[in-house]
Amino acid sequence: MGLNTIDFYYFSGTGNTQLVVKKMRDIFVEKGINVNLYRLEKAVPQDINLNHTLGLGFPVAAQSTYPFVWDFVNRLPDTDGTEIFMVDTLAVYSGAIVGPLKRVLNKKGYKTIGAKEIIMPSNFYPKNIDENKNKIKIDKGLEKAKKYALDIINGRAKWRRVPVLSDMFYFLVSRKMVWRMVADWGKRFKIDRERCTKCGLCVRLCPVNNVRMNEYPWFSDKCQQCLRCISFCPTGAIYIPEKKYKTYRAISIGELLKDE
Ligand SMILES: Cc1cc2nc3c(=O)[nH]c(=O)nc-3n(C[C@H](O)[C@H](O)[C@H](O)COP(=O)(O)O)c2cc1C
Repeated sequence: MGLNTIDFYYFSGTGNTQLVVKKMRDIFVEKGINVNLYRLEKAVPQDINLNHTLGLGFPVAAQSTYPFVWDFVNRLPDTDGTEIFMVDTLAVYSGAIVGPLKRVLNKKGYKTIGAKEIIMPSNFYPKNIDENKNKIKIDKGLEKAKKYALDIINGRAKWRRVPVLSDMFYFLVSRKMVWRMVADWGKRFKIDRERCTKCGLCVRLCPVNNVRMNEYPWFSDKCQQCLRCISFCPTGAIYIPEKKYKTYRAISIGELLKDE
């Protein structure tokens, strides 16, 4: 395979996927491959260079991934054999992304060269955060990311697919109803006006433009629960009343905004 340049499109809500993608980028670069990183939520699929190898990185959500990530994939142009690989991060299990994504990409003419799912700490409203346990998980995840990048370089990566089952699973979890329920969670976000400094970071970070600044930030009904706003608010001013949870983030806000 002629791996000269990789254009790696990724989204990360709370930093796990960003850590994995950057680890893979470092390995590729070490081996002399050019890598361009792009924020998936800001990229225009029609502008993609089909002569480069493409990478996709994203978190698992509701057994699949966020609808805005799927929108990006569905809007990718047709091609004649452009190589593409995917990596996702997840807490436990996903049943409806690896197979369905392969099907869509193959239909568009992409050559699907590798898929890997990497377990990282859960960012889904953890009750407690054990920093030591999380560190062990992250180190393991990054080791897996390194091995996967090497497998891609050596042509040993695989993109397996369980045909009927994963498509049925995808059919169930991609229902509008599921994501309407998810959006309802977002409507529960409240602003602590004592803490909020009106810095506007939540507006800037939201991948689906769901947060607007009126007098204070205001949440519309399009939330997909990536948890960026609640996890990276510098003063912890965004909260869900009467819910017991901790906010998780794998990286600092500076790291999240770097190369934006
Ligand atoms: C709304 C939501 C849904 C999630 N659904 C799943 C899931 O179905 N399976 C799973 O293993 N992890 C799930 N997770 C956990 C994340 O996939 C995991 O923590 C991921 O590494 C977060 O990546 P990020 O930090 O790049 O956003 C979910 C997290 C959120 C916020």
